[in-house]
Amino acid sequence: MEATWFCMTFAIFLFIQLFGSTMEMEKVDYMSHHVTCSKGLSSCTVKAALIQQCAVTDTVLELRPNVTLKPVLCCTRGTNCRPCLQVHFDIQHRKLQNASFVICYQVPNLMPQCKMLKFTMTPVALHGETTSSLHMSVLLKDNTLDFNSLVNVDVCCRNYEVVFPSQDEECSQSTILQRDLKACRVPSFSIVINQERREVMLQVEEKETSDSLQMCLKHEENGICKKWGERTIQLHRVTPCMCFQLWWANDERTHRVERCPFRNQTDRFQGNVWDNVSVSVLKGQMNSGAAMLSWNLTAPCRVEAEVVPCQMEAGVDKDRCIKLDSLKQTLPNVTWKENDSGHWLFPGVFENVNTDLCVMVIGKNSKLGPFCPSESSRWHWRWSLLVLLSIMLLGLAAICICFLHGKLKRWAWQWHQRKHGQLVMRGHVVLLSPPDVDGSVAELVCKLGSNLRDQGLTVSVDLWSRAEICSLGPLPWLHSQLQLLDCRGGRAILVLTQAAREKAKDWGRLWDQPGGDMKLQVEGEGDGLLQCLSSPYADVFGSALTCIKADLHKGSVGDRFMLVQFKTQSALVPSSDTGLPELFQGLPMFYLPSQSQGLFSALAKGSWPRLQGFRT
Ligand SMILES: *[C@@H]1O[C@H](CO)[C@@H](O)[C@H](O)[C@H]1NC(C)=O
Ligand SMILES: *[C@@H]1O[C@H](CO)[C@@H](O)[C@H](O)[C@H]1NC(C)=O
Ligand SMILES: *[C@@H]1O[C@H](CO)[C@@H](O)[C@H](O)[C@H]1NC(C)=O
Ligand SMILES: *[C@@H]1O[C@H](CO)[C@@H](O)[C@H](O)[C@H]1NC(C)=O
Ligand SMILES: *[C@@H]1O[C@H](CO)[C@@H](O)[C@H](O)[C@H]1NC(C)=O
Ligand SMILES: *[C@@H]1O[C@H](CO)[C@@H](O)[C@H](O)[C@H]1NC(C)=O
Ligand SMILES: *[C@@H]1O[C@H](CO)[C@@H](O)[C@H](O)[C@H]1NC(C)=O
Repeated sequence: MEATWFCMTFAIFLFIQLFGSTMEMEKVDYMSHHVTCSKGLSSCTVKAALIQQCAVTDTVLELRPNVTLKPVLCCTRGTNCRPCLQVHFDIQHRKLQNASFVICYQVPNLMPQCKMLKFTMTPVALHGETTSSLHMSVLLKDNTLDFNSLVNVDVCCRNYEVVFPSQDEECSQSTILQRDLKACRVPSFSIVINQERREVMLQVEEKETSDSLQMCLKHEENGICKKWGERTIQLHRVTPCMCFQLWWANDERTHRVERCPFRNQTDRFQGNVWDNVSVSVLKGQMNSGAAMLSWNLTAPCRVEAEVVPCQMEAGVDKDRCIKLDSLKQTLPNVTWKENDSGHWLFPGVFENVNTDLCVMVIGKNSKLGPFCPSESSRWHWRWSLLVLLSIMLLGLAAICICFLHGKLKRWAWQWHQRKHGQLVMRGHVVLLSPPDVDGSVAELVCKLGSNLRDQGLTVSVDLWSRAEICSLGPLPWLHSQLQLLDCRGGRAILVLTQAAREKAKDWGRLWDQPGGDMKLQVEGEGDGLLQCLSSPYADVFGSALTCIKADLHKGSVGDRFMLVQFKTQSALVPSSDTGLPELFQGLPMFYLPSQSQGLFSALAKGSWPRLQGFRT
């Protein structure tokens, strides 16, 4: 009973033994030092025990051993090493001949392991006849104990916590370990710079052919190491902050070798870093409403530099930016963040400043900028709107140009005409004589016809086509002529005389009577051949009236027909009767020769064909 209580008061002491990275693990030979006893002790044994046996016994209380725990490397014949725990007992009380106690240890989440230690004191030791200390030590070795393990040890009523050092720490401690401990073995590699091919090569001594080589690359020592498969790197991609890790992939726990081979070659490779420094600047607003300038600096490595706001100088020297040195900021290491693609980003802000400032980056031997703020996303939005509008306007303009093309061509042509003081005419003119054509009128009609032909028009005059009219008939001839007009453009000109006016009036009256159109047709067709022998022109004139009437119906009066009257003829017209017959109202009318220029320009205007498809 007493013993149990005693033990409980002891048990509240927690002894923590930490083995720092500076401590190199001792190598011990497991076979020969499994259990060792000092002089004065004999029959030392270690046996597996049950956890229930880990109770306080009288022997423990009486012996009160001084216990020391120590992680060591247990090796067999110098190789095949692995971490194990050395437990050392210093025995101070020498009363019992035979003694035994149990030691239990546990790695969290794994089954506890227990061992029973037994020894016998020699009679010399028992009677205090030797001054040398009595001690015993045991090596605890199994799969649960490893690098980085945290082990709880219960021995003789005391609880200890032991932390094993990390493998990397141990492996990098000594070259002996790197050779002896398989887990510590790393690929050995060298860096070769090939100036000719402008690249850097990683040369790895591949002795361990069974293991596959793994590599990763990181920027800065605390960067994220990313899988890397290349053995060559272009010189322009090399930066002083590049570090490589290489290891053999036979075991997850295997040690890596890490080297940053360009760190000492800043002069040579720092330029690559500066080439890829970029700065983005944004105008912003603080919560207080004051203006601020936020900026992001990104670079392949952290750079030592100062970021300074500056004021662009208005005027001729556009690149000049006057630095505001009082606001400069440095780039402390801790603020840098690495993004997923391995670039380092430094976010910064200048508060309470004019937002028309720009930003410059000043390094030891380099200067970048000025970087000026973009107008933020609103600016982008406006810009895209502007682009969109421009595109729309351009499209609209293109459509307009297509539409206006014909018109423009016509304007240009007319301008050309005016410039040269004359009208160049193309197209066709059908000149139709009045029904009472006689010698003097016929002469005038023929003269007009020749005149128009001299202007470059093709001219058909009924007086010139008598045979054709007679063979085709007056109406078909006229239709064929009007068809020509439609194709080539041009006009049909009716020559007015007093008789022509009267005929038109009579014809109009006849038409307005019921069944009038029928009568006219009969009259036109019936005695055609007979009349042809004397004069077919009156019939052609009559057919023209029918066509004008048809145009009137279609609402296109004046598109095809024009009227001319010779001054000599009009002089004979009684002034009371100058009014045009109803049928002729709305047709262009020219008095010749005084209005001949007007006639020509009217013909020039009208010489564009009405049927676009027939143009040549
Ligand atoms: C236990 O051993 C350590 C070192 O071995 C020593 O410093 C300490 O005094 C010892 N404690 C007792 C109670 O003997
Ligand atoms: C101590 O152990 C030995 C052998 O293990 C035995 O012969 C001896 O009798 C024991 N002594 C006592 C006092 O138990
Ligand atoms: C810098 O950027 C250029 C172009 O993007 C690239 O070719 C070059 O490898 C980069 N250098 C570094 C060191 O990242
Ligand atoms: C860089 O230089 C330092 C001292 O100048 C040296 O200790 C270190 O080994 C060098 N590192 C490399 C990778 O050359
Ligand atoms: C800086 O980068 C962060 C995240 O990478 C982004 O949210 C921010 O808008 C950037 N600022 C500027 C000024 O580009
Ligand atoms: C910042 O990091 C660089 C290398 O990355 C190092 O040379 C420098 O000493 C560091 N500065 C501070 C203040 O830690
Ligand atoms: C990291 O930063 C660089 C430089 O600004 C950029 O080009 C790249 O897209 C960034 N990557 C990611 C994943 O954000």
